[in-house]
Amino acid sequence: MLKTDWFEQARFGMFIHWGIYAIPARGEWVRSQERISVEDYQAHFDNFDPVDYDPKAWAKAAKDAGMKYAVMTAKHHDGFCLFDSKLTDYKATNTKAGRDLIKEYVDAFRAEGIKIGFYYSVIDWHHPDYPHYGDAFHPMRENETYKGKTHDFANYLKYMHAQVEELCTNYGKIDIFWFDFSYDDMKGEKWEATKLVRMIRRYFPDVLIDNRLEGSGSEQGSHLSEENPSEYAGDFICPEHAIPLEIPRNAKGKPVLWESCVTMNNNWGYHAEDKNYKPADMLIKKLVECVSKGGNLLLNVGPDAKGCIPAESLKILNIIAAWMKPNGESIYGCTYAEIPKPDYGRVTRKGNILYYHIMENQIGGIPLIGVKPEQIKRIWHVATGAEIKPFESWFHHPDYVNIRFGESPLLPDPTDTVVGVELYG
Ligand code: GLC
Repeated sequence: MLKTDWFEQARFGMFIHWGIYAIPARGEWVRSQERISVEDYQAHFDNFDPVDYDPKAWAKAAKDAGMKYAVMTAKHHDGFCLFDSKLTDYKATNTKAGRDLIKEYVDAFRAEGIKIGFYYSVIDWHHPDYPHYGDAFHPMRENETYKGKTHDFANYLKYMHAQVEELCTNYGKIDIFWFDFSYDDMKGEKWEATKLVRMIRRYFPDVLIDNRLEGSGSEQGSHLSEENPSEYAGDFICPEHAIPLEIPRNAKGKPVLWESCVTMNNNWGYHAEDKNYKPADMLIKKLVECVSKGGNLLLNVGPDAKGCIPAESLKILNIIAAWMKPNGESIYGCTYAEIPKPDYGRVTRKGNILYYHIMENQIGGIPLIGVKPEQIKRIWHVATGAEIKPFESWFHHPDYVNIRFGESPLLPDPTDTVVGVELYG
């Protein structure tokens, strides 16, 4: 039993970006993008009053959609803590929310049997000892008032490490620590990453940690792929807004654990005007693509300031749920098949079962490429369990078993009709 087994079984998780940036409602980078001072941002802290926050409803939506783990922002780059940290007053407990929002998230999602992850930003635009002027992203990076100001970065690191320890000690067993993110010289031991990782692993030896204590979401590769990765290279790489073209492998050619994190629209945090939601069927196909390359999909929701997941996101999750219910076996515990991608879709594999994901109907027979007819023990329509008999016609793709779905030119499921093929041996 490997500590990563559950992650490769789960394949599908919910990312949750929530915080006081939901009030300006222009995404989680609003302070940096608009150079907002901590003083001007304070109003959002003062007004944060998530009266509709219902993590049980969030957890049910995730469970129904077939998501097996969740990663929620405990602290994002703006430094606002959704958890009741004893190390700062800049926390949800001191807003009108008046309580530990992370505790309620943990309790609700754990109750649904969903694995628990924390997103924690090592960047902190609120902490006085985090570099301001001249930093690549700090909201005050060009503000002359801060020029020459000294920062006791060691004091910030003490704070950051102690907060992570709070997250290790106050919320039960944590399955994923999802750090974000390294840049310029702000990486690796600049964060005292070895000490941080060792501390976490003392509490949770089997925890999974992402690769952003030395990487970021823009890097296709990662130090995790090197011959001898550092102790803080993490357990998985997390390409962001991207799905690797090939199966990510390390220097020895061994596939590395990976997860694509993807927004539903174009923002992680709530953005009132961003209605550019990806169609649900596209996201289903992207989940299949990730699994067909041996990876996971972490799909994001950005709840609004009152604590509601946007209706558009809920609608997408409902459509995904309707597909996952009858087809989930072709996702969970599956990985890449040693079969070239077929014209009509993708293939996932679990042991001696291949799942052909047919996303585009064919003229004539649909060839089950990659396997010889004599290898096939049985063929069935995964969604219904109905047996599928080989399709014989005067035009037959030679060398393969062909199948069809009756006389209709339409697939039973226009998004992805999954065909199971059990092989002998
Ligand atoms: C980027 C963004 C951050 C977001 C993360 C999710 O690092 O800076 O806002 O939380 O991607 O992967």
